[in-house]
Amino acid sequence: TSAQSDTAGPAPQADSDLVRAALGRPVEHTPVWFMRQAGRSLPEYRAVRAGTAMLQACQDPDLVTEITLQPVRRHGVDAAILFSDIVLPLVVAGVDIEIKPGVGPVVAEPVRTVADVDALPDLQPEQLDFLTTAVHRLVSELGPVPLIGFAGAPFTLATYLIEGGPSKEHARTKAFMYAEPEAWQRLLTKLSVSAAVFLRTQVDAGASAVQLFDSWAGVLSAADYAARVLPHSRAVFDGLGDRAAGERDVPRIHFGVGTGELLPLIGDAGADVVGVDWRVPLDEAARRVGPGYSLQGNLDPAVLLADRATLDAEVRRVVEQGRAARGHVFNLGHGVLPDTDPGAITHVVDLVHQLSARS
Ligand code: CP3
Repeated sequence: TSAQSDTAGPAPQADSDLVRAALGRPVEHTPVWFMRQAGRSLPEYRAVRAGTAMLQACQDPDLVTEITLQPVRRHGVDAAILFSDIVLPLVVAGVDIEIKPGVGPVVAEPVRTVADVDALPDLQPEQLDFLTTAVHRLVSELGPVPLIGFAGAPFTLATYLIEGGPSKEHARTKAFMYAEPEAWQRLLTKLSVSAAVFLRTQVDAGASAVQLFDSWAGVLSAADYAARVLPHSRAVFDGLGDRAAGERDVPRIHFGVGTGELLPLIGDAGADVVGVDWRVPLDEAARRVGPGYSLQGNLDPAVLLADRATLDAEVRRVVEQGRAARGHVFNLGHGVLPDTDPGAITHVVDLVHQLSARS
């Protein structure tokens, strides 16, 4: 069904608790997965990654398949998330970026001028054959378990490009946004096109849902987010296909950290599911987003480092508060911390299933 891949892949998983919860339909039990479920918390991940740079690993279909499957095998989570990174579309297009362990993405030549924006290479769909191959393999290996595809949202990618690496305040990014509105518009448009191509490739190859990560959007006021960022994130979702025209479509999850004030807008950008960090309880988040959305979240990742009694009480609270939403996908409020005991993750999967089983 795709102009971008010449071999038809296995039939994608269209129905699952993840998809049902995302669309607000009845579930067998609350689906649960974890942001960064594949990664350094798992010894089997550290073993297969040894000797391969992060962004190399992301372009190797064998490694992508193996690492994506690891948390599904170990924890019995209700969804796999593609092993990749938000900067990968930029790297594939030819931008010089490295992921430094313990630091994050570092950009060799940060985008600081209008000319830098115009010089950014565009991602070509033909550059993503490795991705189509990896998703086809994953979909057939996963069987009934849905695969979540993902991309970084234009704003969060712009922060890495402009700052040159991770930053706390994102001051250079905001300064560029205010001082160069036209170049900002062109930059975010470019990033939205490459994110859409990256996501569309995953959906065409058989991903059952997508998540758009706008991890750092919470640093913006609602007014700036609405005027200067949201239209570009909406363009990414729009690039996924036309629901009204009956094109193949999958549920859309939209997530950022510290977005308490932005929650209604995060939904409005075109999501079915609004991801919530640990700062806003899910019953309050449900009020903020309104009735048309499911919620994903929002256990504090640090709670996985606490004692079992505390962990269990917090999981119970999140499951209870999640009942206020149209549908609930259990997750953390942000990614798994590297020193998390994998046993605690498996325990949470079992507990969420037990607490939410339909009798
Ligand atoms: O969730 C998953 O299991 C899927 C894989 C995934 C990775 N990165 C793998 C990864 C996903 C969804 C991402 C998205 C991503 N990457 C985001 C958005 C999500 C979020 O956390 O807010 C962001 C901001 C990035 C940028 C990035 N890449 C950071 C901040 C880091 C961590 C740097 C560090 O070492 O602390 C990375 C590297 C990265 N991405 C790792 C993994 C497993 C660690 C690489 C390693 O093993 O050394």
